[in-house]
Amino acid sequence: MEFKTISGIEIPVLGLGTWHMGGDMSPDYSEDEKYIRAIKYAISKGITHIDTAEIYSGGHAEELVGEAIRQPAEKTHDRKELFITSKVWPSHLSYNKILEACENSLRRLGTDYIDLYLIHWPNPLASMKNAMAAMGELVKNKKIRNIGVSNFSIRQLANAQKYTKNKIITNQVKYSLASRNPERGLLEYCQKEDIFLTAYTPLAKGTLKRSKILENVGKKYGKTPIQVAIRWLIEKPNVITIPKASSKEHIDEILGSLGWKLKKVDQEYLSQQF
Ligand SMILES: NC(=O)c1ccc[n+]([C@@H]2O[C@H](COP(=O)([O-])OP(=O)(O)OC[C@H]3O[C@@H](n4cnc5c(N)ncnc54)[C@H](OP(=O)(O)O)[C@@H]3O)[C@@H](O)[C@H]2O)c1
Repeated sequence: MEFKTISGIEIPVLGLGTWHMGGDMSPDYSEDEKYIRAIKYAISKGITHIDTAEIYSGGHAEELVGEAIRQPAEKTHDRKELFITSKVWPSHLSYNKILEACENSLRRLGTDYIDLYLIHWPNPLASMKNAMAAMGELVKNKKIRNIGVSNFSIRQLANAQKYTKNKIITNQVKYSLASRNPERGLLEYCQKEDIFLTAYTPLAKGTLKRSKILENVGKKYGKTPIQVAIRWLIEKPNVITIPKASSKEHIDEILGSLGWKLKKVDQEYLSQQF
């Protein structure tokens, strides 16, 4: 695994997304074994950073992560080797509801603490002051190790930081070769302020595998379009990413994005071509 460190916090650059594991907005238990197997396999291969949320599959994605981390694959992993991210939904942003949502996530995950807890989306009707006070209380009580946000604009991010002494260590946003919004200022802001930008939907839902442009660049390195697409992201300062993959083949392919470098000229070529 490759890691990035910002403000003394080290995070694996590649995590495993879990949206649509175990259902959509409500649980679907029919493929539990497949998803538990995938998460365990990813962990056994060194993908120790797992991204989930209370909203995913009505909480069932967290339960699947909990199952998987209770039964590690070939070797036993200490909890401290894992980096678990979860998120509180915007309808739960009052002080008490954040505390309650976190307890529920901890129970489903079967763990004593969450490494990184995010506000999933901004809620203009909620008090950011109260939300940050609750996040601070969770840090103080060692229920969560770090705080972050998701889908926040620069203004919302700066405003949230005003209400807490805890560093907001990431803004998780949609970012890939096919989705370049963060390049309109947010990425630069995160780099300047020492904040991780966690890129979600980095594979454009898998569709980047069909890109001829990525295929041609990949040929030079013996890499697939998916591997080049991830590499393009993680070579950017402060950017880490969390593709979702639920088969051994897809997880192996994603892992092939590590341990090599795109030449600057190819990095720039890709940025221009998409
Ligand atoms: N904060 C937010 O608001 C937010 C929003 C969206 C997503 N997220 C997080 O980000 C994670 C990733 O985003 P995403 O799930 O939207 O999209 P994604 O990672 O861009 O794409 C996932 C899709 O790509 C497929 N895939 C994976 N590896 C592949 C490969 N090697 N070849 C071909 N296809 C492959 C997966 O299929 P299989 O499952 O069949 O392997 C899945 O259908 C989510 O799971 C979630 O944890 C956060």
